Amino acid sequence: MAEKTPGSVFTETADRLEREGDLSDGELAFLLQCADPGAGEYLAAKARAARERVYGKDVYLRGLIEFTNFCKNDCYYCGIRRSNKKAERYRLGEEEILSCCAMGYGLGFRTFVLQGGDDPYFTDERIVSIVRAIKKQHPGCAVTLSVGEREKESFQRFFDAGADRYLLRHETATESHYRRLHPGEMSFEHRLRCLRDLKEIGFQTGCGMMIGSPGQTPEHLVADLRFIQGFRPEMVGIGPFIPHRDTPFGEEEPGSAETTLRMLSVIRLLLPEVLLPATTALGTLDPRGREKGLEAGANVVMPNLSPADVRGKYLLYDNKLCTGEEAAEGVRRLSLRIERAGYRAAVSRGDHIGFEKAETPAPEKDILKAQP
Ligand code: 5AD
Repeated sequence: MAEKTPGSVFTETADRLEREGDLSDGELAFLLQCADPGAGEYLAAKARAARERVYGKDVYLRGLIEFTNFCKNDCYYCGIRRSNKKAERYRLGEEEILSCCAMGYGLGFRTFVLQGGDDPYFTDERIVSIVRAIKKQHPGCAVTLSVGEREKESFQRFFDAGADRYLLRHETATESHYRRLHPGEMSFEHRLRCLRDLKEIGFQTGCGMMIGSPGQTPEHLVADLRFIQGFRPEMVGIGPFIPHRDTPFGEEEPGSAETTLRMLSVIRLLLPEVLLPATTALGTLDPRGREKGLEAGANVVMPNLSPADVRGKYLLYDNKLCTGEEAAEGVRRLSLRIERAGYRAAVSRGDHIGFEKAETPAPEKDILKAQP
């Protein structure tokens, strides 16, 4: 079968990105948009090679615990925005969160990601108490927080309690576009300040954005790439925008899986050491989305560890995957899919290569070994 090869302008530009780690704005936009047959695959091959030079074939699994869908914010795109009166709200208590972690530990997870809406019920004290309890129960595991914007003192308290990483997508690096996606009460400047504070404190910090959100142009994507290049996050979460019917953007078009994959590849080539998840949103838009994400340079997958009865309520967008391989019970099947795609589901904390800690216990083999 003859491979489709893109034109030489594309291959030479992609080769130069691989070699030099940078391009002009126009060239970056061209890599994202060029419609030559085989262009995405050509770029993905470069990104795969870059990620394998740093992290080999390992794919890191994170146990995602969506512990509250209450949110004080009103982002126009998000299904758990406060104005969505149809959302069925829930919160998990500390004990429930700890039992999710214990179950996840048994399945081989060594990172727990606590993600929630921006929920004031979870005061600093409550978050600190949860982080401490998880670290006490699982001293060898990493804890990632994704609980929205707070003040620097609060972030510092979370870090001192033992949290290792923090995810806060910047959503868009262009202020006018930020205004299109968020109500006036939300501050672009504060969001970026939070990201800088997190990094200063010493968190492995993740930013990120949706691809194809309403009003987004290729120039906005290039601005996101420039922001990422300057900020040098340890993690970048990106996935396609998917409309949610009970939001102001309910009738908007979803983002493109293909552009999402190109962005993953370009980010991998700009920051070869970055931890890059193949997101649930990508898996929702395309049944092979997560595998394609791994093939495009991603190296993290985050299955859902939340209790089954709440999983269907954390609906950021329509048709969000929340059963089957998305769920922890499906982790062996997921591992099998990862292995079939040529990778290895690693049982380790999966820190950023610049952050590897001496206390990381030796990986226990075979827990996740795919079983027929
Ligand atoms: N489609 C895709 N991603 C979404 N998010 C929120 N709403 C949507 C949507 N409709 C993303 C945002 C947020 C993350 C938790 O989920 O980027 O930061």
